[in-house]
Amino acid sequence: MSSSAVLLSSTTKQDVSRRPWGSSVSLEGGPPPPGLFAASYTDEAILPLAVWAQRLAAPVTVHICVATSGPPLPDRTIEDVLISDEWIGMSTVRGPLPWSKYYLPGSGQPVPEDPERETFWQCSNLYTVPAHRGQGLGKKLVNANVEAAREQTRELQASGVNNIRARIRLVHNPSKQYHRDLYSRLGFTGAGLCTLREGYMVMGDEGLLPKDTNSTEELRTKWERRWAACMERVVDV
Ligand SMILES: CC(C)(COP(=O)(O)OP(=O)(O)OC[C@H]1O[C@@H](n2cnc3c(N)ncnc32)[C@H](O)[C@@H]1OP(=O)(O)O)[C@@H](O)C(=O)NCCC(=O)NCCS
Repeated sequence: MSSSAVLLSSTTKQDVSRRPWGSSVSLEGGPPPPGLFAASYTDEAILPLAVWAQRLAAPVTVHICVATSGPPLPDRTIEDVLISDEWIGMSTVRGPLPWSKYYLPGSGQPVPEDPERETFWQCSNLYTVPAHRGQGLGKKLVNANVEAAREQTRELQASGVNNIRARIRLVHNPSKQYHRDLYSRLGFTGAGLCTLREGYMVMGDEGLLPKDTNSTEELRTKWERRWAACMERVVDV
């Protein structure tokens, strides 16, 4: 392929006048296989603005990898590149989160000595299209999340906040050993197990949770079972 991959980054603040994904984006020109993502574009597009407001209560940084074959970036705007070139991967990192939102009691996650000295971040939506896998994009996207957390913590320091570390968490399916290997090589270590309900909460999606998550065996198995593996990386800033 003659195109080159470019990593674009954008941090969303509390502006919910437009949904972040205002147009239909399809990776590789077709819908992803069923079950690959927890939600589809069709589901997401009809969410009420209140849900987006909740999601964006903490800023979200989105990284998008684009295979670009047109003129180089300085000659085009980022919007042009996003609209006309092929999206080949993405990842997001949400934060800084308050410790009270980041902490998942009972998950077995490490508790920092002094939470006041750290910032807390949750990664999600890591995806690269199959045709571009195995070329280092996954690593680039995870590292971009770590760097965004570090950079934004530095900015907080500059404004007088006394944080000296950033703690970044991601969640993966423990049946996929290569996920664990990939994240371990990038400096992440085991940080307990979480439930689907907790996963929704740390992503700011508590508004989408059913009122009842534990009155039947079926509900408990779906929402309250500790099965998703958490990993964390702590970086000095
Ligand atoms: C996980 C994923 C993002 C990796 O993306 P990628 O672009 O292939 O990542 P990289 O090229 O940086 O590869 C990272 C490492 O994983 C390994 N790897 C990737 N896919 C693999 C697979 N199916 N089986 C075994 N190893 C695999 C690569 O060989 C590479 O190893 P290395 O560090 O020794 O070179 C991609 O497979 C994907 O989008 N999967 C579907 C969505 C998903 O599962 N997301 C993660 C949610 S936690």
